[in-house]
Amino acid sequence: MQDLIQERMPKHIAIICDGNGRWAKKRLQPRTMGHRKGGFNIRDIARSCNKLGIKYVDFFCFSTENWNRPEKEVNYLMTAPLKFIKRFKKDILNGETQIRLIGRRDRLPKDFLDLFDELTEKTKDHKGTVVSLCVDYGSYDEITTAVKNIAEEYKDGKISLDDINKDLITNHLFTKGYPELDLLIRTSGEYRISNFLLWQLGYAELYFTDVLWPDFDEKELIKAIKDYQSRDRRFGGIKDDNK
Ligand code: IPE
Ligand code: MG
Repeated sequence: MQDLIQERMPKHIAIICDGNGRWAKKRLQPRTMGHRKGGFNIRDIARSCNKLGIKYVDFFCFSTENWNRPEKEVNYLMTAPLKFIKRFKKDILNGETQIRLIGRRDRLPKDFLDLFDELTEKTKDHKGTVVSLCVDYGSYDEITTAVKNIAEEYKDGKISLDDINKDLITNHLFTKGYPELDLLIRTSGEYRISNFLLWQLGYAELYFTDVLWPDFDEKELIKAIKDYQSRDRRFGGIKDDNK
């Protein structure tokens, strides 16, 4: 499909969906219109990932720091997805993707959590892409929680110091059970990680594009994957022909 090399498809992609506000501003529209268009785009790119056979895709929708935005914008971001998802619920349930929510749960509205819990449960046997929506997500928070939980297990005698290794830490993160992250995409011309998947990014390839998130379509996704496929991933080793 589209000149992509099937054997070198990334298994796990993460996307920092940035630029909704600027997209709206360019059109003299309120920022919320950018978020609306950005929401539709998450749906579309999730479908594209499924079509392309990507097993896992994570979307950074709302960070632990985004609560600092004006109340009106935060309210929109907490309520609009509910309306949006209710509208497409049937499609999701009849579709192929699995839906997951990643992030802190203690600050999100109950109706928001209930809807996502229902979707997660009802899509858990779907065979398509695992689509993770990262909401109230931040790596510092994720790793801090993991450290606390590991300390607790140590204190309770469930694990010894020797049990603490990369795999144990990985298994205490929200992405427990996910394959290693292959590719991170950030839209809108910003060159930052912004506290997203810090641990998981260890050996991921990074791809930055100036395209604003609402304009990032399947063609752009394929471009990013092609770029990824052209990279020489050595994971700290050297190329075979240099041995
Ligand atoms: C990304 O778009 C969406 C969220 C972080 C919720 P932004 O809202 O960050 O858009 P810009 O960066 O202001 O253009
Ligand atoms: Mg931004």
